[in-house]
Amino acid sequence: MKNWNVRKAITPAEAIPESERLHRSLSWPHLVALGVGAIVGTGILTLTGVGADRAGPAVLISFCIAGLICAGAALCYAEMSTSIPASGSAYTYSYTVLGEGFAWIVGWSLILEYSLVVSTVAVGWAGYANDALRHIGLALPGALTHGPTLAGQQCGGSVQQASFGINILAVVIIAAVATLLNFGTRESARINTGLVVLKLATLSLFVIVALPYFNAANLHPFAPHGFFSTPGACGRPYGVMPAAAIIFFAFYGFDAISTAAEEAKNPERDLAIGIVGSMVACTLIYLIVAAAAVGAVHYTKFANSPEPLALILREAGQGRVATIVSAGAVIALPTVILAFLYGQSRIFLVMARDGFFPKSFSTIWKSRGTPARITTATAAIVAIIAAVTPIDVIASLANAGTLCAFVAVAVCVLVRRRRDPDANRPFRTPLAWIVAPLTILGCVYLFTNLSRLTITFFLTWNVVGLFVYFVFASRSAHRTRSASGA
Ligand code: ALA
Repeated sequence: MKNWNVRKAITPAEAIPESERLHRSLSWPHLVALGVGAIVGTGILTLTGVGADRAGPAVLISFCIAGLICAGAALCYAEMSTSIPASGSAYTYSYTVLGEGFAWIVGWSLILEYSLVVSTVAVGWAGYANDALRHIGLALPGALTHGPTLAGQQCGGSVQQASFGINILAVVIIAAVATLLNFGTRESARINTGLVVLKLATLSLFVIVALPYFNAANLHPFAPHGFFSTPGACGRPYGVMPAAAIIFFAFYGFDAISTAAEEAKNPERDLAIGIVGSMVACTLIYLIVAAAAVGAVHYTKFANSPEPLALILREAGQGRVATIVSAGAVIALPTVILAFLYGQSRIFLVMARDGFFPKSFSTIWKSRGTPARITTATAAIVAIIAAVTPIDVIASLANAGTLCAFVAVAVCVLVRRRRDPDANRPFRTPLAWIVAPLTILGCVYLFTNLSRLTITFFLTWNVVGLFVYFVFASRSAHRTRSASGA
């Protein structure tokens, strides 16, 4: 039987060697901006169209459902991150509460969330950027604008030719963000805050211009595909709940704040403000943007569009504003890449400290106080994925990994409340015995609404993860524990 060791407490900051210690440079406004930067991105800018296709105007209800489930998860994260303020996020909470084996599974699933969100957003951004280059006469050769495609019958009847390609701009944006992160956490946070303000200004502009076109007739029929999953075109699930499973992508990112625990100046207070504050702000913003979108134009006109907000404005005769909104999106979208690349590198850093990855990865670049080695290695991996993988495949897998992490954190809240009722909890999830179980149920339900292909990929990924754990990682972690006397 393997040692599914439960750790009694996290390593206190003073016990971490100087060479592996991060600098505390972030205060709560940086954390709220990190959260809003991570949350508002590809989801609201592109998936509103996919959601409207699956649910009709009732996509507003899909937004509410996905938002409520994420709000429950955010409260659980706020409790765990302020009570166990370490950069490993759900991985560290699982290690502390459930043991090493569960922590490995959660850490392995977090790779899907963080790494694949970076790749997804980089591919989405490259799509916009390639378009912009084409408009100014600097179009890149076709083989440098997308990953390789396989030959085969497409949904809709056309036949696709096999072709080789590399999404070069996706690689460039990841390299640029990784360089910024290596340069300094505070500098990255400052640039992030500026871009978040620009992103919010872009969405506000959309709402101000689109809202006067609101026409209640555009909301009919409100839920053309019903509430629960019904099979539709190309075998895709239609209805309010399947749309919520997709819209879920737009809401997460607040969890990236918990990976800043070791760089926050006052983690016990500021992590809760950052997580709950950014989640509340984004939910309000999304509901207003979605209401303005489905009210301004009939949903059939922008369903499945990769740039629904710009399209709605064009349909309303506001072509110039549409161009400004698209430009704002291109400039500000890299904040999502920044927040998730930041989060992934911190989780890998903690896993390397625990012996799951080579120890040398946990080294900090002394003069900048950043984990430059692990950030560069992480960026290289996600850049390769972004260079060669289509966006829809990676986005839904990222959702599966995130749902798994949210379930783990809600379970940790309940187990720890029962096992250690007097533990230090600067923030307590209100009505925890109702909120956490509902979050778990909601996440499991959304998971079952993912496509069969995604669920199969996810399970295969975890089988591979367990193989790696039993063959390599658990021994390596055991050696690290023995060496540190833990
Ligand atoms: N919520 C993030 C986005 O929509 C992942 O891009």
